[in-house]
Amino acid sequence: MKIEGIAALVTGAASGMGEATARILAERGAKVSLLDVDDDKIRKIAEECGGLAIQCDVTDADSMVNAVSVAGESHGVARILVNCAGIAPAKRIVGRDGAMPLEDFKRVIDVNLIGTFNAMRLMATAVRNEPALDEFGERGVIVNVASVSAFEGQIGQAAYSSSKGAIVALTIQAARELASAGIRVMTIAPGMIATPLLLGMPDEVQQSLASQVPFPKRLGDPKEFARLVEHILENQLLNGEVIRLDGAIRMQPR
Ligand SMILES: NC(=O)c1ccc[n+]([C@@H]2O[C@H](COP(=O)([O-])OP(=O)(O)OC[C@H]3O[C@@H](n4cnc5c(N)ncnc54)[C@H](O)[C@@H]3O)[C@@H](O)[C@H]2O)c1
Repeated sequence: MKIEGIAALVTGAASGMGEATARILAERGAKVSLLDVDDDKIRKIAEECGGLAIQCDVTDADSMVNAVSVAGESHGVARILVNCAGIAPAKRIVGRDGAMPLEDFKRVIDVNLIGTFNAMRLMATAVRNEPALDEFGERGVIVNVASVSAFEGQIGQAAYSSSKGAIVALTIQAARELASAGIRVMTIAPGMIATPLLLGMPDEVQQSLASQVPFPKRLGDPKEFARLVEHILENQLLNGEVIRLDGAIRMQPR
């Protein structure tokens, strides 16, 4: 799919990989809607990159219906969806205070998995009756974000790994189901990326994480994630697959 002039939705666009993706898509001439719970930040970033800021909680059905509708009114139906909204709190299944509260587990599933599905179902519904963009019938591309924790969950990542593993499982399923509508579904599983989440950790923790990466021995740049999104959008043969973006790291138990 060409990017220029195409309407795109990026969730979690107020920070990290979502922000980098929104900026790069805007630079490439896409009409970008930035969706995030953090209203102040998306307004600022949208102003800087010429996008449209829409406050949205991905876990909420009405909030997402509103966001897709507001974006559509300004930019036309979105052909691109990049699902970057996510949270990563750590908690053990059985911690010092006993069993992990069920609400903690549910919250991570709600944001990471249900939030991804919420955006996916509404974007696909809107785009399926739009005209195809080429002779092969392509109508849209969805890029979801998992994590290497989907494959090697560390201690304390029960909820996070479960949510990301489900996004991996959803990839081929959704690609098959949405193929008849000409919508491709891809997932990126990042390793250690230098976003505010990781940059908030002490220097020695960052260095230790970076040293576990075989090559290159550094944290990833959110722009490297955004460049992979760009490639996925433009390479039509990529569909129903999960790509690790991780410098060959295989996470240790802790
Ligand atoms: N940084 C890493 O090393 C890393 C590695 C693997 C996977 N990931 C995944 O990549 C994605 C992006 O992570 P990041 O590092 O850029 O994080 P980040 O914290 O920098 O950005 C996440 C954004 O999601 C938004 N968000 C959270 N809950 C939301 C909700 N309910 N509705 C709408 N927006 C919401 C936040 O406000 C924030 O702007 C996440 O799914 C994360 O799990 C990150």
